[in-house]
Amino acid sequence: MRTTLGPFVIAALGRLASGAVTSNPKWPYGWLLYQEEYLLYESLEVQSGFTNGCPRRFLTTTAAQWIRLAYHDMSTHNVEDGTGGLDASIRFELDRPENIGSGMLQSLSDFKARQTPHVSMADVIAMGAIFSLAGCGGPTHASIPFRGGRKDATSAGPPGVPEPHQDLRTHTDIFKRQGFNQQEMIALVACGHANGGVRKNDFPDIVTGSQSFEFFTGSDKHNRSIVTGYLDGTTTNPLVVTSNVTLRSDHRVFGSDGNVTMKRLAEGNNFNTECASLIERMINTVPKDVKLTEPILPIEFKVGKVRLFPANDSDGLVLTTTLRTLDLPDNPKRTITLLWTDRQGSTTCPSTGCSVQSVSTETLGTGTDRGFRFMGITTPQMHAFRANVDIKTSISKFWFEIDEGDGNKEVVDNDAEGFAIDQETVLIDPVRSVKWVDALGTAKIVRVVVGVTTSELSSMTPNLTMRAFNPSTPPPFIPETTTVPFSLDTTLPAMGAYTFFTANVSSPLGLSGTPMTSFDVVYEGRIVQEFVQVKEILTSIRV
Ligand code: HEM
Ligand SMILES: *[C@@H]1O[C@H](CO)[C@@H](O)[C@H](O)[C@H]1NC(C)=O
Ligand SMILES: *[C@@H]1O[C@H](CO)[C@@H](O)[C@H](O)[C@H]1NC(C)=O
Ligand SMILES: *[C@@H]1O[C@H](CO)[C@@H](O)[C@H](O)[C@H]1NC(C)=O
Ligand SMILES: *[C@@H]1O[C@H](CO)[C@@H](O)[C@H](O)[C@H]1NC(C)=O
Ligand SMILES: *[C@@H]1O[C@H](CO)[C@@H](O)[C@H](O)[C@H]1NC(C)=O
Ligand SMILES: *[C@@H]1O[C@H](CO)[C@@H](O)[C@H](O)[C@H]1NC(C)=O
Repeated sequence: MRTTLGPFVIAALGRLASGAVTSNPKWPYGWLLYQEEYLLYESLEVQSGFTNGCPRRFLTTTAAQWIRLAYHDMSTHNVEDGTGGLDASIRFELDRPENIGSGMLQSLSDFKARQTPHVSMADVIAMGAIFSLAGCGGPTHASIPFRGGRKDATSAGPPGVPEPHQDLRTHTDIFKRQGFNQQEMIALVACGHANGGVRKNDFPDIVTGSQSFEFFTGSDKHNRSIVTGYLDGTTTNPLVVTSNVTLRSDHRVFGSDGNVTMKRLAEGNNFNTECASLIERMINTVPKDVKLTEPILPIEFKVGKVRLFPANDSDGLVLTTTLRTLDLPDNPKRTITLLWTDRQGSTTCPSTGCSVQSVSTETLGTGTDRGFRFMGITTPQMHAFRANVDIKTSISKFWFEIDEGDGNKEVVDNDAEGFAIDQETVLIDPVRSVKWVDALGTAKIVRVVVGVTTSELSSMTPNLTMRAFNPSTPPPFIPETTTVPFSLDTTLPAMGAYTFFTANVSSPLGLSGTPMTSFDVVYEGRIVQEFVQVKEILTSIRV
C-alpha cells in the first residue's frame, strides 16, 4: 500500500509504534470491510450509550442483554449438518419460552439501524457481543478478532436454547449439537453468566426473594467471581443457589466434570483467555454455506468516500475525500497532499500530477468512546480534501503524500496503483442534494440530486432509479428497499457537461426514523453509484 521515502518509517508492516496491529487492504475495500471496520473502531454507533461504561438498562445491563441475544441466536446451530448458527434467525423466534425476556426485542431494536445492504443483522449481533464484553471489563476487540460476512436467515430455525429446568444430559447434548464439548460448555456458560442475571418477572421460581432482579455475580460488570465465587461457596448466582434444586442449572453445569474446568478457569488469566476464544467461536458459529472474512483490523490509512461532482460556482468538477491516519506522531510541520492524474496524460497539470493539501484535520477522540481504544490506538485523525478538477481532463486516479517537513515523505498509493475513479457519467451531488431533518437531526425527507453527462443522455427520461435502503422497520426488523425514479430537475440549470436529475424519498408521516440510510443509483440497469449514505449529503434544512 505504501512506499516509504527517506529513512524514517512511520509504521512498519501493519504495526504502529504503540504495537497496535493494523491492516493495509487493497482499495476499493468493498463495502462490507469499509463499513464494518468503521463500526468496530471509528464510529460511536454500536457502543456509545449502550456498552461504554457498561450502563444499566431494564434492571440489568445492555451488554448482558446483547451477549444473551448472541448466544440464543447461535443456539440453532447443528454441527452435524451445518445448519443454523449466528444468523439473526432470533428475529423470528422471540415468541418461544426459551427466548423469554424483553431484552431480546430491545437489543434487536438497538441494532436495526446499523444494517446496510452489506452489513447483516447477524454481523451486528456478533459485533455487539464483542463491544459488550469490552465495555464491561471483559476481553476486548484485541483478543476477540471480528470476522464479517454472516448472512441473515429469512425464517426461524429449530428450537433448542438450554433452559434451567432441563437436566445435565439435555444441556450437554444441546452444547454438543452446537459444537461445544463438556468443558467448553462449562467455560462458555461461566463466561456468559459473568454478565447480567435473572429477572423475577420471567423466572419467579428462580428469583424468589423480594428483589426483582439478581445479578449472577452480585455485580453489574463482567466478573470472574462467577468462577471463584462458585468454587469458594460465596456465590449468590441464582442458577447455583436457588432453593428449587431442579432449577440450579449452573450448579449442575459447572460441577459436571468434578470442577476440573472451573478450577482451571480460576487460575491466572485463564478465565479471560478461554472466555475470549469461546466467545469468538460462538460468534463464528454460522451456517456452513457462510464464509466469514479475514479478521477485520483497523485500516492504517483509510480512504473515505470519494465524491466527484459538478461545482456549483464554476465550470469544473470538485473532488472530495478523506484520509484517516492512525497515531501519526505529533508534527506541526507535516503536510498531507492529495495528488492526481487526469484522463489524458495531462496538459494542464505538472507532470507530477495535480495536487491539493488537506483542507482540515480532525483528531477523532478515542476517550471512552471509540473501538480504536481497545486496539491501543489513541490518536486517529481524519484529513479532508477538496480539489477542483478540470472538467475537460477530469481525473483518473489519485494518491496521497505525507510530508514530515524534515526530508521524510511517505506515499499512500494503494500499492503503487493509486486510487482509481472509474466513471464520471453519473455523479452523486452532495452539495445540490438536500435533507430535511427534524429536531433530533433525523432526515425525514431526502432529495437526492445526480448529475448525468449530457452527451450520455439518450433522452431526458433515462432509466435512472434510486434503490433506497431503509433498515429502521418494525419487528422483525427486515430492511426495506424501495425503488424511486429520478426525474429531470428543471430548477437546477445544467452545469458544464452535466444535467441534473432528482429523486425524493420521505418517511411516512408520523413514523419515527429516516426513510433511508443509504441508496444505490441504477442507470440503464447498471449500479453506477453504490452505498451512498444519507449522511454524506451536506445540506440540511430543519423542518
Ligand atoms: C445451560 C445453559 C444456560 C442456561 C440454562 C441459561 C439460563 C439463563 C437464564 C434463566 C437467564 C435469565 C434470563 C432472564 O432473566 O432474562 C440467563 C441469563 C443470561 N444468560 Fe444464560 N443460560 C445458559 C447459557 C448461557 C450462555 C452459553 C451464555 C453466553 C455465552 C449465556 C448468557 C447469558 C447472559 C449474558 C444472561 C444475562 C441476561 C440479562 O441480564 O439480561 N447463557 N441465562
Ligand atoms: C465482582 O464480584 C464480587 C463479588 O460480588 C465483587 O466484590 C466485586 O466488586 C466485583 N468486581 C467487579 C469488577 O465488579
Ligand atoms: C421446581 O421446579 C420444577 C421445574 O420448574 C418444577 O416442576 C417443580 O415443581 C419445582 N419444585 C418445587 C418444589 O417447587
Ligand atoms: C465442586 O464445587 C462445588 C462448589 O464449591 C462443590 O459444592 C462440589 O462439591 C464440588 N464438586 C466436586 C466433585 O468436587
Ligand atoms: C457552492 O457550494 C458551497 C459549499 O456548499 C457554498 O458555500 C456556496 O455558497 C455555493 N455557491 C453557490 C453559488 O451556490
Ligand atoms: C422533491 O421535493 C421537493 C421538496 O419537497 C420539491 O420541491 C420537488 O419538486 C420534489 N421533486 C420531485 C422530483 O419530486
Ligand atoms: C429500468 O431498469 C430496470 C433495471 O434496473 C428494469 O428492471 C426496468 O424494466 C427498466 N425500465 C424501463 C422502463 O426500461
